[in-house]
Amino acid sequence: MTWDPAQYLTFGGHRIRPAIDLLSAVPMEAPKTILDLGCGTGNMTEFMQARWPDAKIVGLDNSTDMLAKAQDAHPDMTWIEAEIGNWSPEAPFDLVYSNAVLHWVPDHGALFPEILKWVNPNGYVAIQMPRNFEARSHTTVYETIRNGDWRTRLEPMIRDEPTSPPTFYYDLLKPLVQSLDLWETEYQQILEGENPVPEYVKGTWLKPFLDALEEPEKSAFEADYKKNVLLHYPPQSDGKTLFPFRRLFIVAQV
Ligand SMILES: C[S@@+](CC[C@H](N)C(=O)[O-])C[C@H]1O[C@@H](n2cnc3c(N)ncnc32)[C@H](O)[C@@H]1O
Repeated sequence: MTWDPAQYLTFGGHRIRPAIDLLSAVPMEAPKTILDLGCGTGNMTEFMQARWPDAKIVGLDNSTDMLAKAQDAHPDMTWIEAEIGNWSPEAPFDLVYSNAVLHWVPDHGALFPEILKWVNPNGYVAIQMPRNFEARSHTTVYETIRNGDWRTRLEPMIRDEPTSPPTFYYDLLKPLVQSLDLWETEYQQILEGENPVPEYVKGTWLKPFLDALEEPEKSAFEADYKKNVLLHYPPQSDGKTLFPFRRLFIVAQV
């Protein structure tokens, strides 16, 4: 899908927190080389630079728009435009860090062991992926698809849940690494504004479906989704909305 940096960064605070939690969980003194896999707009670069000022950081993403923003903010860094599934590095890195990306890339059973090969011995891989696909924010997308004239076009686009349970990653990775830490956190995201969940979901999960429709259907689909999702995320007494969001973290030493 085509990423829209402005829409994605609208909820930047909520999206950066798990990225920082992931970075904080990497127990490395001073990695010399870091790959930010699916770096997007390069949000995490300054946090990595602040923690490890001598590290050489390389960002990789397949979105020209996201990389253009990253390049503007950090022209001194190396940015690679590539498809994760078709890429491999010339030399391995001390740390491969990937925040909120790999749920967009299929076949984790083959991909994750491949990514481990991109890491130097004793180096680390650190991965965070949403595991929120049974939440009403997501299931309401499918309900809205199934209850409209757009059903025949949009239903084939519904993907299986892209992130597996922790048990899958444990069995896959444990035999291949020295140490493996896995955990999940459900963030209670406090959102401002009227019916804010659709705006959040528009930056990611809803986007491919909206992109597949022309006006006036596009607006009609969005209006239906907004109406349906509001029933599940009513405002609190102060007008704000709690949007719980579960994420899976994996930190492994190779
Ligand atoms: C949710 S954003 C996360 C960006 C960044 N890691 C962050 O935490 O802000 C997902 C990023 O993954 C990139 N992406 C998705 N699928 C990809 C693929 N197959 N190859 C390379 N990049 C991909 C998108 O272009 C997007 O920039």
